[in-house]
Amino acid sequence: MKIVSAEFVTSAVKPGGYPPGNLPEVAFVGRSNVGKSSLINKLVNRKGLARTSKTPGRTQLINFFKINDAFILVDLPGYGFARVPGEVKEKWGKMIEGYLKHREPLKGVALLLDCRHTPTAQDRQMYQWLLHYGVPAVVVATKIDKLSNNQWAKQQSVIKKALPLAPEHKLIPFSAETGRGKEEVLAVLEGWVHS
Ligand code: GTP
Ligand code: MG
Repeated sequence: MKIVSAEFVTSAVKPGGYPPGNLPEVAFVGRSNVGKSSLINKLVNRKGLARTSKTPGRTQLINFFKINDAFILVDLPGYGFARVPGEVKEKWGKMIEGYLKHREPLKGVALLLDCRHTPTAQDRQMYQWLLHYGVPAVVVATKIDKLSNNQWAKQQSVIKKALPLAPEHKLIPFSAETGRGKEEVLAVLEGWVHS
């Protein structure tokens, strides 16, 4: 798929703030700092489209980006950020779940995991939730530039076992630095938004 245009549409916390219209949407979820915003920027070749940061918790709203005037990528706030107070955490959880559960144009979800880490309880919970609701999903292992092929071979089994990954789901190694995995991720998205 060739991306010819990418533009920020809006930020929202509640359904009332989601963009109107019926363009298909694909959402990115995962722990804070896992690389959701970086992945979006790499996919669309626009460094500063989604704001990224070394500090976890950068994305605090649901951000919508319109691609090719044909579909929308949705950057969700990251979960699992230890330094926010319980009350805020609960609000974020509700914001993420509220979107995933009720968003009609949602066609699929990419769950991002740091390739170096064993999935956390929240990662597993998120994955099982997607399975349970039958949401089309793909798992993306981010920051793959940080592992050697050998290390990834081992780590891949750890991730698959921990989720545990269902046979219908792909696990795609990805790097926002090198672009590895970009075409594979785009192909999955294309299948979702054109079906
Ligand atoms: P929140 O918005 O806080 O939930 O974080 P996020 O998931 O959007 O992460 P973000 O894209 O802001 O990236 C977090 C940090 O990881 C930044 O310092 C990025 O430069 C770095 N990073 C993201 N992707 C990669 C990658 O593929 N390789 C490497 N080496 N670093 C990456
Ligand atoms: Mg972000």
